[in-house]
Amino acid sequence: MKISTITVSAALALILTNQAIAGTPRTEPVQPIPAVEVTNPAMVELGKKLFFDPRLSKSGFISCNSCHNLSMGGTDNIKTSIGHNWQQGPINSPTVLNSSLNLAQFWDGRAANLKEQAGGPIANPGEMAFTHELAVDVLQSIPGYVNEFAVVFGNDALNIDMVTDAIAAFEETLVTPNGEFDQWLQGDDKALTAEALAGYQLFKQSGCVACHNGPNLGGTSYQKMGVIEPYTSASAEVGRAAVTGKDADRFLFKVPTLRNVELTYPYFHDGEAATLEEAVDIMGRLQLGRVYSEQEIGQIVAFLKSLTGEQPRFELPILPPSTNATPKPVPFG
Ligand code: HEC
Ligand code: HEC
Repeated sequence: MKISTITVSAALALILTNQAIAGTPRTEPVQPIPAVEVTNPAMVELGKKLFFDPRLSKSGFISCNSCHNLSMGGTDNIKTSIGHNWQQGPINSPTVLNSSLNLAQFWDGRAANLKEQAGGPIANPGEMAFTHELAVDVLQSIPGYVNEFAVVFGNDALNIDMVTDAIAAFEETLVTPNGEFDQWLQGDDKALTAEALAGYQLFKQSGCVACHNGPNLGGTSYQKMGVIEPYTSASAEVGRAAVTGKDADRFLFKVPTLRNVELTYPYFHDGEAATLEEAVDIMGRLQLGRVYSEQEIGQIVAFLKSLTGEQPRFELPILPPSTNATPKPVPFG
């Protein structure tokens, strides 16, 4: 009897101090990023080319990678994106990394999934400013692409559905497993510094995790920006209300992922928070009514930096050349 009591209290002590038995995964409101399983490598390769191909834009200059730069955490690191003709975009570019783990796409969730999302920017006059018909015409004029589409889809009649399928298949591979925090979740006690661990405890105890949870620490719900104190912004974006038309949904945004957040500055839908310290301070006050000390902010930021995972690595795709028949780019106008 005595022995089992000791065992129980020892186990309890282990739980309370967050000491996992080496190699035993922890049970937490945040889960590790699952490693990617590529089921159709040929489609992923094609999608990668399309992601990097600026010929899907009117200017022949803007690719998906222009605003979701995979050398910079899948973002453009500016407040709001620059589109066709140097137009100032209305909103901050979210990362494409781990975006397959989100319940929907865009800050307001207006696209149900990656395939539906991928058609948007090509035809958006403020982004790539093309049409789906012209994009297909361009691809159809390039034999290298026609052959590759035929191999992947078993069909010569190239269409926009195939384009968005391939881009989505590539994006599904853009996951970032094995960050320090994931190693800790999987039972490696040494993976986190004491400061980052204290930051995670604070993140959980003060309630950040109510919104930033799941493997993506976000992407699981729409929440109001400015729960306790209102958020003031020069941006005209209204969030989820733009989709539902309901007044109650004003300023509800899809909770952004905190994965790789060290790389995806500046922060918030309007890009107005330049640093992680600033973003954490604002979140504490506006969402939780809590003012953190400088030390506490440092701890939470140390935790957030442990969420940087292994970035997708691959060879830069070499794109098949245009032909005499390829419609010419229109960079100005
Ligand atoms: C001109 C810059 C620009 C270009 C080019 C661009 N995007 Fe985006 N992307 C954005 C912005 C800005 C948003 C957020 C828009 C919103 O939420 O209203 C976004 C949102 C997304 C999202 C949603 C992520 C999430 O978590 O909600 C995905 C995925 C995405 N883009 C993929 C692509 C793909 C694929 C392409 C190429 C076909 C592309 N983007 C081209 C700027 C751009
Ligand atoms: C009530 C839900 C909620 C709570 C609680 C919450 N957040 Fe957020 N968080 C959001 C939403 C929604 C956004 C997006 C707001 C926007 O862009 O206007 C966000 C954005 C962020 C961002 C910026 C991410 C980016 O890519 O732009 C960071 C960092 C962040 N939160 C950290 C925290 C921390 C740390 C806490 C605890 C102190 C916290 N959040 C508490 C809902 C919440």
